[in-house]
Amino acid sequence: MGLNKKPYKGCRDFFPKDMRVRQYLNQIMQKSAESYGFEPYDGPLLEEVELYKAKSGEELINDQIYSFHDRGERFVAIRPEMTPTLARMIAASHRQTPKPIRWYSIPNLMRYENPQKGRLREHWQFNVDIFGAPDNTGEKELLIMLIHFLENLGADSSMFSIQINDRQIVDSFFQETLEVTNEEAYKLYKILDRSKKISKEKLDAQINELQLEANKVKALRDYLLIKDLDALQEFSTKYNLKKQTQNLFAIYNTLKNLNLEKYLIYDPTIVRGLDYYTGIVFEVFDKHPDNRRAIAGGGAYKDLLKIFNEEPLPGIGFGLGDVTLKDFLEVHKLLPDFSSPQFDLMICPLSDDVLEHSFKTALILRKAGLKIDHPLSKIKMNKVFKQAQAKGHKFIAVIGEDEAANNEIQLKNLETREAKNFKQDNITEIKKFIEG
Ligand code: HAM
Repeated sequence: MGLNKKPYKGCRDFFPKDMRVRQYLNQIMQKSAESYGFEPYDGPLLEEVELYKAKSGEELINDQIYSFHDRGERFVAIRPEMTPTLARMIAASHRQTPKPIRWYSIPNLMRYENPQKGRLREHWQFNVDIFGAPDNTGEKELLIMLIHFLENLGADSSMFSIQINDRQIVDSFFQETLEVTNEEAYKLYKILDRSKKISKEKLDAQINELQLEANKVKALRDYLLIKDLDALQEFSTKYNLKKQTQNLFAIYNTLKNLNLEKYLIYDPTIVRGLDYYTGIVFEVFDKHPDNRRAIAGGGAYKDLLKIFNEEPLPGIGFGLGDVTLKDFLEVHKLLPDFSSPQFDLMICPLSDDVLEHSFKTALILRKAGLKIDHPLSKIKMNKVFKQAQAKGHKFIAVIGEDEAANNEIQLKNLETREAKNFKQDNITEIKKFIEG
């Protein structure tokens, strides 16, 4: 029996047609990040498990991490997320780096998940983070950049929303209003995080398990009913949490001045599963009824450098997965057609005698920056169109005996069937013909 031709469970092979999509998305990620002054970085595939234990949160460590002992008995893991690696790199370099530090990366990550729509074991994640920005300017800049990036892909507020909350509000509410212990607060976080995925009965049962006094259960229910920022105003007045909402309202006001507030929705259940967030937390949701899932998630964290014995340096960032992004673009019909390769033209030598000439022509055109497909053997005239169309070409450069003798090519537009002869080095006119 031969070996399995499928990739490892939950992982993908990227055939050329898939790579074309990946490269397109990566290019827009790079361009969008760099237009906001972000610089690229990368790190190793493996990290010591300790790095994730310190901050990533129980679920990631207990259930999702790929870990093993290396030959030197070091306990290592394949990176399940990028933020701990980023924190380690920032801890090692921030003293010499002017603030704010803006970095982005598109690493592949592995999590031991049950593969399903939108969730795989390996995915690529666009990570964008800012360190050391004063007050909440980093938060504002990052959210503006995130919206702008999705707009660059053709999306608008009818297609996605940013569900946002602030852990400062949640923390104070838990500690000062509900007066729960740290352990109970942790449980409550998990309950909120899962509250939309479970039934009302299950949610009630989990809240009952905490055995809170009746007035506190009422406060928790009031909290869960907050639908928007106006309702948050009322709630914060009632429960004396006005100060803790200031950060969120300041961010909202800046986005409002830019006409971007339409993207923001206050959501009391957004707390995020990762333990390091300390300020705003958010998730980008697809609004399409067939694909209601998170495309991206992120938040602010101020203590991530502590584990490296460094002074706190506030950070804010998001991670956006390629699997969910592609689903999002597909369901909203925003993904261009990448089914065919994108070459400028295909050289078609009609006989063995003109092959040498084809190599020469291909080199001249390639040096001029054109993407040239060369079949490396003759093509019969009656097969030229069929072969070129099967490969998705729009233009061909036919080279017969006459063309070779005159240092020419015959350019043909396969759609309009227009044909014209050019000197092989008349790049300006050749480009004009191709570009229409
Ligand atoms: P996260 O919420 O775990 O955050 O992941 C961010 C995004 O990555 C998700 O919204 C989803 O699009 C994608 N994603 C996560 N797991 C999978 C999976 N198994 N399959 C496909 N896509 C997935 C973080 O990882 C944070 N470290 C992000 C961050 C950066 N926070 C601050 N800076």
